Amino acid sequence: MSLRLTGFCAGYGRVPVVRDINLEIATGRIVGLLGANGAGKTTLMRAVSGLATMQGGRIEFAGNDVTSLSSADLVARGLIQVPQGRHLFGEMSVRENLEMGAYLVAGLDEKARMQEVFSLFPILRERERQAAALLSGGEQQMLAVGRALMSGPRCLLMDEPSLGLAPKAFDLILDVIKRINAAGTTVFIAEQNARKVLRVVHYCYVLENGRIAAEGESSLLLADDRIQRSYLGVAHA
Ligand SMILES: Nc1ncnc2c1ncn2[C@@H]1O[C@H](COP(=O)(O)OP(=O)(O)OP(=O)(O)O)[C@@H](O)[C@H]1O
Ligand SMILES: [Mg+2]
Repeated sequence: MSLRLTGFCAGYGRVPVVRDINLEIATGRIVGLLGANGAGKTTLMRAVSGLATMQGGRIEFAGNDVTSLSSADLVARGLIQVPQGRHLFGEMSVRENLEMGAYLVAGLDEKARMQEVFSLFPILRERERQAAALLSGGEQQMLAVGRALMSGPRCLLMDEPSLGLAPKAFDLILDVIKRINAAGTTVFIAEQNARKVLRVVHYCYVLENGRIAAEGESSLLLADDRIQRSYLGVAHA
């Protein structure tokens, strides 16, 4: 489902962090949000989900103005976030964490969803009864994605899924994200790992000091000298 931000501003209390954001994620696409540490990616993602203070502007989801909806209402409409750092329930089992994903949303076929999650991430079926805290970092990220899938996302917001992951584990997550997208879910993904993200997204925005500094098709950004220097590590090579 499409997501559109217009003149969007957000921060903490009255302190602004992201300003004047205009962006659009069309239905069915994967769109990236790149930016260095502290650029404001998490603040933007959280404010879109109603979890940080929105200070101005407008949010449209599936063509409707949802600016003033609560985070619970947004989840019920299918705007689901996989937060940076995962925020799993560490003492609870894999299965219980997945059940929590379905808990807030009425009318979902929980059993069928869980089978779908297990088919995307077979390791989670094997670890079904294990406490989430005992999973590896990669498995925890799979569980965080799995829990979001349990909520019936129509648009999935993913904040820094590469955090703490080995390259192979991140590749696997990106692979599943592509499959989820191909099956019809719109995806918005915030990442510092520009090179890999540009390989999977259709379109990308670059956030610098809380503002959109560049945007474009992946191929254009990959060919842009300034983007290369700032985000693809060319200057450090
Ligand atoms: N709870 C908070 N209260 C006040 N300021 C905050 C809070 N969380 C973040 N900030 C500030 O907001 C700015 C943007 O932080 P944010 O976490 O959104 O960046 P980010 O792009 O997600 O960075 P990272 O790549 O490290 O996750 C930073 O200057 C940060 O210090
Ligand atoms: Mg962040």
